This record gives sequence, structure tokens and C-alpha cells, in this order.
Amino acid sequence: MKIQDLVKRELLPIKRPVHGGQGWKLPGVEDFSHNLNPYGPPAELPRLVAEAAEHLGHYPDDTAAEFREEVAKLHNVWPENVIAGAGSAELIRLYPEVFLSRKARVIIPRPTFSEYSHACRMQGANILDVPLIEGEGFRLDMNAIREKLPLARALYICNPNNPTGTVETKRRIMELVDECEAAGKLVFLDETLLELVDEHDSVSCMSEVQSHENLFIISSLTKSFAIPGMRVGYGVGGVEIVEMMERARLSWNLGVIEQYVGARLLRDHQDHVRKAARMMASERARIKKAVDGTGLFSPLPDQCFFFFTRVNDPKMAAEDVVEHLLPRKVLVRDCSTFGRPFDKFVRFSVKTPEKNDLLISAMEETAREIRSTAFGARMHV
Ligand SMILES: Cc1ncc(COP(=O)(O)O)c(C=O)c1O
Repeated sequence: MKIQDLVKRELLPIKRPVHGGQGWKLPGVEDFSHNLNPYGPPAELPRLVAEAAEHLGHYPDDTAAEFREEVAKLHNVWPENVIAGAGSAELIRLYPEVFLSRKARVIIPRPTFSEYSHACRMQGANILDVPLIEGEGFRLDMNAIREKLPLARALYICNPNNPTGTVETKRRIMELVDECEAAGKLVFLDETLLELVDEHDSVSCMSEVQSHENLFIISSLTKSFAIPGMRVGYGVGGVEIVEMMERARLSWNLGVIEQYVGARLLRDHQDHVRKAARMMASERARIKKAVDGTGLFSPLPDQCFFFFTRVNDPKMAAEDVVEHLLPRKVLVRDCSTFGRPFDKFVRFSVKTPEKNDLLISAMEETAREIRSTAFGARMHV
């Protein structure tokens, strides 16, 4: 018997997506490769988990009513606009299960979070490739999107975009949402990383879901509350989109602990998120100045709480930078998994001032080391 002959055809060319955030496996190393709230989870988290654990003897509420209520209050929508997800990752998977059949086409600007294309390809959908414009800080190519739109069923946008850290304006995104709505196309917008951007309120499109039936937005507690170990996310969209997704959603997808803790974090701990966003907005300017001064990378963008930049030395790849930084107890994300030319790019996040000092001195030492090696090599010629 050949299992390959029995498996779904769509699955054969598919590989698992690769992610960062595994630095916790390296003792003593400061992990700048993930994009989590640098203050960690709120101090009350263990108490909340313990309170919820009292109720593990029964099934979770399959409707996640209390959690959805808190999401609705936060974003000023109805609970009927909200679907809960085991992390936003579950909703990335669910959306194409509900809306894409074989051979449907979707626009996914590149580079971006790899789970979208993975989930779409699982349904046999085809990806229409639209590169982001590097010369404009990896902004969306509005014209290329418009050109391909007639062929597509849905447009994916990640804001801020992972890995590039580009923050698109609400105006540009809503322009596309409007055009898609007029043309009968869906828009999947990922705002999972937006809560930690200080300008969050003026950028988020959450307030638009009730007036745009084609818009579905995902977000998550993972990054903003630094709880990747709990799987709590949500989607906000038009009532009809949410209703269709509810039909296909895995039963009891959010556990008892996730629902209870998630609702309370959203209700009582928004300050924790805002404080981190403010702190990172002021730290990012300091990091930019210092790291730009090393000459190691192209000038850092200054939009987001994580940076995505090209390694300057044409002989060095991202993995070489990672190798130089690791002995200095600093881990950055080698972006080669996003395909060429991103094997020359690294991504790293802003953290607390003391940790950022560590990043800056590791980068400065690395730059000196590289310069002296190059100089040494020339001396021996
Ligand atoms: C842009 C983006 N969206 C979604 C996710 C999924 O996160 P979670 O499932 O923890 O909400 C991630 C995780 O890295 C991400 O970077």
C-alpha cells in the first residue's frame, strides 16, 4: 500500500510552515525573534489560570459567550460579529475551509505570514503572487492588487505585516476593502500584531466590519499579553461571514482556561498592552539610531515594534548574523524561510530598555568583529 496514493492530492506538495519564537529552548539567550509584549504576561495570570482550573471538570462553553462578549465590548461590535479561535492560527485555517474550494484564487502579498498560503493550499486554492514593494518599505502594491483582483475570490492583508513590520494606513486598506466589496471579493485582514503598535487606534479597521460585509479581521491575545502558550484568538467580521464560519468551527475549540482568562485579560488588563506599546514606540527610535550606526544593516524602518532589514555585507547571509549574535546571547530571526532574497534579511523585536541595551551592544560588537575580520583578511592578501 502506498499512503501517498491515498492522501488528499493538495497535501502532497505542502510543507509545514516554519516559525521563530523557539529561543526559550536556548538557556540564557534573549529571544528577539518573537514579537511578544516584552513585559511578559500580566502578574495576575497565574491566579486567573488557577481560578479557571477549578472548572476543568466540565466541557467548555461551545459558544465562548463570555469571551466573545468581551471582544465585542472592546471593539464596539456585537457578539454576533465575533468568532473565537484557538489562537488566530485556527481562524487562518478555518477561513479557507469555509470560503475556498479547489482552484479558487487568492491574492497574498509577499513576503508575509506563511500560514495563509499553507491554509489556502490545503483547500487546493491557487495563490496569486503580488510582491510587496521593497523600495517603499514593503508597502502593498495597490496597482498590482487591482490588476489581479478580477481573478481572485479573496485578498489577504497582514497589518502590521509579518515579517516586514510595515504598517499600512487605514485609508489604504479601506480603499481596497471598498473596491473588493464592490467587486464581490472577500478581504481577510490580520491585525494580530497591531495591538502593540502605539498608533493602533487610528490604524485598526475593526470599526468597519459592521458596514463592510466582505471584511473579516483576526486578532489574538498571544502577542499583546505575551501568552503564546495559551491559544486564545478571535475573528471579527460581518454577521454572515461569522455565521458561516461558526458552522464549520471545531467544537469546544477554546478550552475552559482560555475562555475564562481571555475574557478577564481583555476586560481588566488593557493598560498592560498600552503601556508596552508606548514604551516600545519610544525605544524603537533609540534602537534604530544605534543599530543604523553599526552599518550592519540597511537603515531600519521606524514604524513598528519589530524591525526587518537587509544584511549590508554582500558576502553575509542572515544565518551568518545569527551565528555572530548567538554567542552574545542574542537571538534574531533568520528570514530565509520566507524564500529568496529574504535569506539576506533578519527580523528582531523591541524589548525593555535593559534588554535592548544587550541587543545594541551585541550588534555593535558583531559589527566590529566583522570589520576586523575583513580588515585582517585584506592584510593577508
Ligand atoms: C501575523 C501573525 N498572525 C497570526 C499569528 C498566529 O498567532 P496566534 O495563533 O498565536 O494568535 C502569528 C504568529 O506568529 C502572526 O505573526
